Amino acid sequence: MKQMIYASTATQTVNFDVIQKILTQCVANNNEFGISGMMIFDGKQFLQCIEGNEAEVNQLQKNIFSDPRHQDIHVIGEKEITVRVFSQWCMGYLNNERAIRQVFLDVSGSEEYALSTLSYEKAKLILLKLSYMI
Ligand SMILES: Cc1cc2nc3c(=O)[nH]c(=O)nc-3n(C[C@H](O)[C@H](O)[C@H](O)COP(=O)(O)O)c2cc1C
Repeated sequence: MKQMIYASTATQTVNFDVIQKILTQCVANNNEFGISGMMIFDGKQFLQCIEGNEAEVNQLQKNIFSDPRHQDIHVIGEKEITVRVFSQWCMGYLNNERAIRQVFLDVSGSEEYALSTLSYEKAKLILLKLSYMI
């Protein structure tokens, strides 16, 4: 299986309704294609992990990366995995900006808030810690 983590910035028009639409697509498609994962949104940036069979992850990655609802997409990394980290979520979602910033600070030790510059392991840890708060 493959696991991939990226960060991106929402385009101007992204609001609550748009996020709802994205999450509806996530539930429908990810269940069908055996994708699990976790996504956080702080009002500006997304950080998302997707995991599943390699072909399905690659296809979803193509779709997501060509989606006009976000930009400045930065792949933090990808990894071959045998066990899923987010198996209970077809796409866990949290948008609590305060919690996101606090966990970022705890994990990165840095006051400078920049999701895209995280290492793979730190990004995964942030997503994992925040998944407990859903
Ligand atoms: C930040 C972000 C994350 C997304 N994550 C997923 C996802 O996990 N699963 C998914 O099916 N679509 C996701 N999408 C939507 C896809 O880009 C695409 O619109 C969707 O897969 C198309 O689905 P459809 O063919 O059923 O319309 C995401 C979009 C954005 C902007």
